[in-house]
Amino acid sequence: KSDVHTAEPLRVCVTGAAGQIAYSLLYQLAKGDVFGQDQPVILILLDIPVMMGALGGVAMELQDCALPLLKETIATDDPKVAFKDIDLAIMVGAMPRREGMLRKDLLKANVKIFEVQGKAIDEVAKKDVRVVVVGNPANTNCLVMSQYAKTIPKENFSCLTRLDQNRAQAQIAARLNVKNTEVRNVIIWGNHSSTQFPDASHAKMTNGDSVTERTVQKRGAAVIAARKFSSAVSAAKAICDHVRDLWNGTKEGEWTSMGVISDGNSYGVPDNVMYSFPVRIKNRKWEFVNGLSVSDFARSKMEATANELVEERDTAFQFLSTE
Ligand code: NAD
Ligand code: LMR
Repeated sequence: KSDVHTAEPLRVCVTGAAGQIAYSLLYQLAKGDVFGQDQPVILILLDIPVMMGALGGVAMELQDCALPLLKETIATDDPKVAFKDIDLAIMVGAMPRREGMLRKDLLKANVKIFEVQGKAIDEVAKKDVRVVVVGNPANTNCLVMSQYAKTIPKENFSCLTRLDQNRAQAQIAARLNVKNTEVRNVIIWGNHSSTQFPDASHAKMTNGDSVTERTVQKRGAAVIAARKFSSAVSAAKAICDHVRDLWNGTKEGEWTSMGVISDGNSYGVPDNVMYSFPVRIKNRKWEFVNGLSVSDFARSKMEATANELVEERDTAFQFLSTE
């Protein structure tokens, strides 16, 4: 394979770049796992001022990988430098939940961050930038960011539920004793929280036991309990899967789940929340997979997670500055 790459480099910003997810993610982005072996990239790393020393170390390590596709690495604590002319932002940076912190306190700290970053991306990024939000609470942070980036279409924003989808897929495959890749079209509905509804009823392999929902819903907490840190390698892998599908499209006959803006007309989900739906992707645009049957049981679960998102949204907007 030739080492001469003629394509214009993609400008990709990763926030929270000195953190643990980014440490796994950056290498995969830089070595061609996501955008392909012919697509050079410029990585722009954003973190907060106290992390600049550590971030410099991450930048050194990326350089030391001597990767053919990595054209430049820029480390900064200024969102306007980080988002300048970018094609893609992967928003991993967020304030972690500390012991004793209420969900409301976490929401308050984080939505402020995403308000500031939404305004900055609106000002300096390319207008067709794609934004993927990972930092928790991912769905509501994503909604807030899209709300403050007024000149960027809301459809360009999505949040990560692919880790939940991958978890569900792996659980089902283990039960059926088949390869992970043989299980397709598992759906994650709603919030990336314990109210999410993992739905195997439309999965392609349905001839065996289906996964119990609680395994997937509580998996994030189980990893934290075991590792004392939240999931990182699996989160980074899921981000790569999400972005690869966003860039290259979903396969024929398949769909994927991601948190996207609701339109009030799909599966009874209220308007204007970032809700995880099954989507098909083509030319970097997603569309809802419509017309799937929904049982009464599924309907009640889908409503419960929608209610939580509406509540989160309303609480978040109480904390934010009036527009
Ligand atoms: P981490 O604490 O190791 O790293 C977070 C980084 O973000 C830190 O370096 C921190 O300094 C930085 N940061 C904080 N505020 C920032 C700001 N305003 N701008 C830029 N950077 C900022 O955490 P991690 O393990 O890498 O996880 C990051 C986030 O991803 C957490 O919110 C975690 O809960 C979430 N997460 C989401 C999923 C998902 O599936 N959606 C999965 C796993 C983790
Ligand atoms: C996960 O699903 O692993 C994380 O979102 C858990 C967390 O709270 O960071």
